[in-house]
This record gives sequence, structure tokens and C-alpha cells, in this order.
Amino acid sequence: MDCDIKDRGLAEAGSHRIAWAARDMPVLKRIAEDFAREKPLQGKRIAACLHVTTETANLMKALKAGGAEVYLCASNPLSTQDDVAASLVVNDGIPVFAIKGEDNKTYYSHIRSVLDIRPHVTMDDGADLVSTLHSSYGAWVKEMIGGTEETTTGVIRLKSMAKNGVLGFPVVAINDSQTKHLFDNRYGTGQSTLDGIMRATNRLFAGSAVVVAGYGWCGRGIARRAQGLGARVIVTEIEPVKALEAVMDGYSVMPMAQAAKVGDFFITVTGNINVVGKPAFDAMKDGAIVCNSGHFNVEIDLPYLESISSGKSTLRDFVEEYVTRDGRKIMVLGEGRLINLAAAEGHPAQVMDMSFANQALGASYLVKNHGSLPKDVLTLPESVDREIASRKLEALGVAIERLTPEQEKYLASWEQGT
Ligand code: ADE
Repeated sequence: MDCDIKDRGLAEAGSHRIAWAARDMPVLKRIAEDFAREKPLQGKRIAACLHVTTETANLMKALKAGGAEVYLCASNPLSTQDDVAASLVVNDGIPVFAIKGEDNKTYYSHIRSVLDIRPHVTMDDGADLVSTLHSSYGAWVKEMIGGTEETTTGVIRLKSMAKNGVLGFPVVAINDSQTKHLFDNRYGTGQSTLDGIMRATNRLFAGSAVVVAGYGWCGRGIARRAQGLGARVIVTEIEPVKALEAVMDGYSVMPMAQAAKVGDFFITVTGNINVVGKPAFDAMKDGAIVCNSGHFNVEIDLPYLESISSGKSTLRDFVEEYVTRDGRKIMVLGEGRLINLAAAEGHPAQVMDMSFANQALGASYLVKNHGSLPKDVLTLPESVDREIASRKLEALGVAIERLTPEQEKYLASWEQGT
């Protein structure tokens, strides 16, 4: 089988960890069982560009159970779990092109390897697959059924493609499902980001000042978890409504240049470039720790930090110390790439269960509605969100209230007032 992975010998270790994650993915498991019976993806080639983790492995197995031919590459050079890649190849016959630590050239050659299958459906996390398909495989675009996109950053890129009239097929924005962003972005990123920082540094959060750049769902989750560990949380934000929400959630809100003077940890989750740049690096304290949990490694202006530094050295795995010419030491984690997947294992399976239930149902939705969907960025119907939430609650053993006929009638009426 054509593939490019680190070491097939890691397959057994990978299979145990994939099974461990599967225990916490009951919604995806039920979908896989439905898929195995109904084969909604029969004969379809799916090119997937996702973080190669234990949770992703369970999604790949579900798609294969649904009849798809699945090829997988990494959506970030540092996020691959090599044992998982090996297990997918050896135990599941799924071709994988991903090696942790691959350089940019290899990263893109792996993307081309999965696109070479001439996919019917793409499954992206960050939109590198869709953008490469449009730029280098233009002739195939019109044969596509559609794509799915996992993350906020990818959805923004795709919306820009749609707005500029270049998006050649429908793409389902998985991130727009409530059962994705309310849980994965908030609780998943909240926990896994702090997990990554702790594994990389083994530093104490209690009593530290943690600067969170961006108060979207990811920023909200990180701020809450950092506060729970005893940190003083400072939020930087450009949107007035979100900034106000951060104030009322109990955090200090201020511009980055001011926060830089007091922060011990800096965590970026904005999706924008150079959020920690010259004004921040010039003001930062000796010993500050800087990292990113946004999709791309653009949020920290490393070229500027390099330009004011006399040298850098690796102190621990994922910890690089820059010594500035004025004698300060600034620590950058995971080369500014998403720290939760570089130094830890990404979000726990309990939340990826819902994200990947959306991915699996998104792929079957595209196939089922082939030909009738616009070439645009779409959201899955609300009924899918409700179904996933209901299945998750059921798996958790949580029962909820039902409207009585009297209550239903009341909600549908307008006559009854004070
Ligand atoms: N993104 C964040 N966490 C992830 C995980 N565990 N698997 C795949 N993608 C992720």
C-alpha cells in the first residue's frame, strides 16, 4: 500500500490508544454501526487532511465502514501521532501520509499524495486540501461532490473563496454546528491547550498572569480553565462585545502592549497574524512563556523575536529559549504551532466524538444531496445538531424534559399575555 509514515512497528501501541479513545466516542460508534449497515459512502473516495490522532483514527474507521475509500494526511506538520498513523496503515488498511515533525515541503507532498486519488469528497482542518485542490488540480474541481471543514480558520478561508467566486463545490462548515464549536472549541481547546503548556513546561499556573489573546469560543475555554487553576487571567480582544463579555466574566481586559508588561504566559487563539509582535516582545518580562493554540503558526511574530535576539537554544522538548540583546529570556513553545497538538494529544475523545459525528454525517449529507447543494459554505441542518446532542446525552445517561401538549400549545399561541 502506498503510504508515508514513520514506523510500521508502532502499530500495536497505536491500536491500543485508538481503542482507548473509542470508549469515549459513543456517538461516532453508533454512526459507524449505521454506516456499516447502510453504506452511505459506498465507492466514494475521501481525501482527509486532519490531525492524525486517536480520535481521527476512529473517524477514518467509521468512514471506511460506510463504504468509503479513505486516504489521510496531516493538517499540521507537528500534530501527527506516529503510532496512530502506523496502526491505520497496518491494522485498518487505510493509507496515511504523515510523519510528526515533517518539514513544509513534505507536508505539501503528503497533501498532494491524498489528492492524487482524485477524491469525491475532501475533509479538511484548515482548508489546505481545498486550497491546494483549487490551485493545483483545477480540472478535478468540477468532479467533486463536496468537502467538509473542521475549524474556524478553515471556514474563514473558504468563505473568502466563496465570496470571490472561486469555490468550486459545496463545503460543509463543521465548525458552525453547535455540537462542534460549543464543546470542541470551548472545552476541548480549553483543556488541551493548558495540557500542552503543562506537559511542555511543567510550570505552575496558580499565581501566574495568563494573557489570552482572543475571546472566541477557544479563548473563553482557555481563560476559564486557567482561572480554575488559580491564574490571574488577562484577555486581549478587538471586538467590543466579546471584550465586554470577558470583563463581565471577571477577567482584566487591556491592549497587548500593556498586558505584555505583566504576563507570565501568553496564549494566542485569534486566527490572525502577529498578535504577539513587536509591541509585546519589546515590553515582555524576562522569563515570559509564549505559545499559540490557533490553527496556523502565524500569530506569534517569530521573525521579529529572532531579529531582537542574540541566540536561541532548546531547553526541553517544545521549549525554545530566545535571549534578547537587552538580556531578557523569552520562551516560545512548539515553534508557535498549536501547542495542544504539538506537546499534548489534542482535545479529549469526549468532545471529538461530537465534532467527528458532525464530520461523518457531513460527508454522508454531501453524498446524499449530491447535485442539489450550492457551491458555497454550508451549515448542517439543525436537526443533525439536535440528533448528535440527543445521542450524546443518551450515552451519558442524562434524561431531559419534554414539552407537554399544553406547553406546546402555549408556545405556539400569541393570545395569552399578562
Ligand atoms: N483537533 C483538536 N484536537 C484534536 C484531536 N484530538 N483529534 C483531531 N483533531 C483535533
